[in-house]
Amino acid sequence: MNLAIVYTSKTGNTEELVSFLKDLFFKKKITVQLFRIEQFPLQDLTAFDGIIIGTYTWGDGEIPAEMLALYRAFETENVEHIATGVVGTGDSFYPHFCGAVDAFRDMLYVHSQLAVTLKVEISLETKDLDRCRRFVELFLKRTTGFVKKELLRTIL
Ligand SMILES: Cc1cc2nc3c(=O)[nH]c(=O)nc-3n(C[C@H](O)[C@H](O)[C@H](O)COP(=O)(O)O)c2cc1C
Repeated sequence: MNLAIVYTSKTGNTEELVSFLKDLFFKKKITVQLFRIEQFPLQDLTAFDGIIIGTYTWGDGEIPAEMLALYRAFETENVEHIATGVVGTGDSFYPHFCGAVDAFRDMLYVHSQLAVTLKVEISLETKDLDRCRRFVELFLKRTTGFVKKELLRTIL
């Protein structure tokens, strides 16, 4: 499986979260490529089997500007086969907590095989570690189930 985590992070919270998720995949012997959004080869988007998006939230519940091209690519390209997940950090002081996660979630639900989402309050704390483990388990469970179904379709 060709899996990637694509993320953005201004002050490091989301970066810490996605690095932890990557380690959890690694412990399960699953290789996941980690890309900062600026390094992600957007032209190869449809070649991935699974993509997890990591984002903070900006402005009034908004998607950070650097993530908009990725958002539009998912909206317009043939990504129906891609299993997706969304994670993010935010601050519940703001009226729309992790608004960027919600925006990606709603769009990915329509265009891709959305498996699971996760929101973290500012930065990882002990209470979040189990939620991260659960995220990885659910992502893999739903992703492999979906990939198997796709393979079957191709074979039949
Ligand atoms: C100007 C500004 C606007 C923000 N707006 C929101 C918001 O609407 N909703 C939210 O949940 N968090 C908001 N945040 C909080 C950040 O998303 C949060 O601190 C996040 O953990 C930063 O992630 P990073 O360390 O990966 O950059 C805002 C922060 C700043 C500085």
